[in-house]
Amino acid sequence: MIAKHIKKVSPSGIREFFDLVLGMPEVISLGVGEPDFITPWRIREKAITALEEGLTSYTSNSGLLSLRQGISEFLNSKYSLNYKPENEILITTGVSEGLDLALRAIVEPKDVVLVISPHYVAYPALAQIAGAKVQYLITDEKSDFKIDLKQLKNALSVKPKAIILNNPSNPTGVHYSGSELAKIWRLIALSGALVISDEVYDELTYDFKHVPFTALDKKAKRKTILLNGFSKGYAMTGFRVGYVCADKEIISAMTKIHSFSMMCVPIVSQVAAIEALRAQREVADMRSQYKRRRDFVVKELNRLGFYTPKPQGAFYCFPSLKKFHVNCLDFAKKLLFQEKVAVVPGKAFGDEFDTHIRISYANTLDNLKEAIIRIERFIKALK
Ligand SMILES: Cc1ncc(COP(=O)(O)O)c(C=O)c1O
Repeated sequence: MIAKHIKKVSPSGIREFFDLVLGMPEVISLGVGEPDFITPWRIREKAITALEEGLTSYTSNSGLLSLRQGISEFLNSKYSLNYKPENEILITTGVSEGLDLALRAIVEPKDVVLVISPHYVAYPALAQIAGAKVQYLITDEKSDFKIDLKQLKNALSVKPKAIILNNPSNPTGVHYSGSELAKIWRLIALSGALVISDEVYDELTYDFKHVPFTALDKKAKRKTILLNGFSKGYAMTGFRVGYVCADKEIISAMTKIHSFSMMCVPIVSQVAAIEALRAQREVADMRSQYKRRRDFVVKELNRLGFYTPKPQGAFYCFPSLKKFHVNCLDFAKKLLFQEKVAVVPGKAFGDEFDTHIRISYANTLDNLKEAIIRIERFIKALK
């Protein structure tokens, strides 16, 4: 009964593993990719008021104009970007829907989509669902999981329709600087590929200022579909609000699909997102707590013998298990059953990453300290 190209899509390795975790008491989860913070009160309060005021209708397919205006002004003041709220911004059900729409709007059967690996689980899956052929560009820990330009040049020679970039990255925490992005863009510009730039972690960068891909130059802006949203930086995963900024022709095609499949994002969530844009103090506070946790976790993992490059963004690190001569699934399962600490096996982010795990530090410092004690006990017993 099921279409062949859907059968081929592998289920998310994260979900499979976390079905095991569900229902196990006292587990410290370093697995989930979502903030441990509750959405700041001022944002929740606006959502409650919206309900009290009876805001229960559909909105424009593109999303509330006031939210699109807010996003446009925010991007302009933060990054000097210029996107017209009327036809260059679309409000989506999280970045997830933005990604799906972007791929469906531009991909034709057999087009190649280039995915940088290790990769967020949805990239190859949604590209395949859209009918694309996925090609991977594999990065490794020798270059701290950053794109090698020679490799990129080779990969682009197959003329992919699009390349998906994720800055900062899930699962590695890699954050590219403006000058690194400019070098990447120089090669992509020559190839004619479109860029889908997922910047959902742009509020969570710790060491230098974020540069959106579309800020590189005019052509980069025209050829890039910028995806962002409120899930991570604003701790609003359950509200499901994302946005896409792109050339009006692309936004129009994406809006066409969105208007039939989704209609619009729930109005209460959109009202909450307008308030979120004003909650920059709360965002900065969460960011500084993640930074403290990152510094602790990365130092401790390296002390324990896991080689862990320092992530400069998001809330993940991607330690190597090579020193322990164990594959990621055995490691993750044993750690879960023996010490009740959940991490994600690296293979979930690409077949090549059997010797890695993903650790999320979106957890309290107390829990992270206890998790490190348990991990230390666990690896001593492994020897
Ligand atoms: C890189 C990346 N993009 C997109 C998403 C999905 O975000 P949203 O909740 O906005 O759909 C995630 C969630 O984990 C992610 O890590």
